[in-house]
Amino acid sequence: MDIEQLGQRIAEIEAAVVARLPSVANVDDLRRVENEVLGKEGALGALITTIKEYPPAQRGQVGQVINAAKGRVKAALDGRRAALEAAVADAEAAAAAAFDPTLPGYVEPMGSVHPVTAVQWRIERLFERLGFTVEAGPEMEEEYYNFEALNIPATHPARDMQDTFWLTNRKVLRTQTSPVQVRAMLKYGAPLRIIAPGRCFRYETIDASHENTFHQVEGLMIDREISIPNLIALAHTLLREVMERDVKVRVRPGFFPFVEPGLEIDMNCQICAGKGCPTCKQSGWIEVLPCGMVHPNVLLAGKVDPHEFSGFAFGLGLTRLAMMKYGIGDIRVLNSGDLRPIVAARRLEGPVVAAV
Ligand code: DAH
Repeated sequence: MDIEQLGQRIAEIEAAVVARLPSVANVDDLRRVENEVLGKEGALGALITTIKEYPPAQRGQVGQVINAAKGRVKAALDGRRAALEAAVADAEAAAAAAFDPTLPGYVEPMGSVHPVTAVQWRIERLFERLGFTVEAGPEMEEEYYNFEALNIPATHPARDMQDTFWLTNRKVLRTQTSPVQVRAMLKYGAPLRIIAPGRCFRYETIDASHENTFHQVEGLMIDREISIPNLIALAHTLLREVMERDVKVRVRPGFFPFVEPGLEIDMNCQICAGKGCPTCKQSGWIEVLPCGMVHPNVLLAGKVDPHEFSGFAFGLGLTRLAMMKYGIGDIRVLNSGDLRPIVAARRLEGPVVAAV
């Protein structure tokens, strides 16, 4: 190759490198390109070894031509390297600016809530979505609200249905959450939608299915055109939501002094899927939701006009339902303070409370 041809060859190599540079995306690739061109065996680098093929008088000039080309290529590569490094630095600066070290850290959730609380929260969320408010009433209740206002006068045999803790101040530990119905009517008037979750107390002999302290959720909806189908639809929604699966319900007549008609809504037993087991006493059904249309006497006690308004009420056995949901067979574990059976029952649920 004469000097002229050599010049052409070098020009081609240089043009090829310059054309390639914009698509080199990072410093590692750039190093590879550099090696392919300037390295000992690279396109330009290898030309050095051809110097000795030229007549001695030309060798100096050949060397200069090659080295000048190498210098230009090196400068082009360095330019690209600087651009790539600047882009990386910019990206790092942007990432650093996006990290705000003053934000509070992520709190690892740990622990769990009591099964009864978990079910209660779920019910509260559902009813809040349906426009109900969550009310609380006193656990130490006046006899009037626990009984008389609910259409249970002193001589009524229904008083015997609920064994009562009487206190020395003539109050009672409420035997049910129903007294909150009348308190809420007096507080807000009609129309009204409330639920009242809470603890109730009965003078019971404790065994696997009876406790002196348990939880209910009272529900009350009063408006101008409330009927039993509204109640049944709501009951079905409620039970499905709590159990987090579809459930069957059936409706039977029941008696409670504060409703007329009174109903019992049963759910198909979730332990045996309705086949029959000791929990459902082989019937396949579990009583979960006593309810009915609010008795006019109760509306009157709440100063609501029974000619204008009607309503339904229910008293959900919250403790019962939590036991069903989590497969807890013995009510005593719920108040025992022994966490092991509860943790075992809830283990599939994962942590629900954040540590503080
Ligand atoms: N308070 C009743 C109980 O503890 C349950 C109940 C039944 C509540 C019917 C209601 C209802 O609101 O309508 O046995």
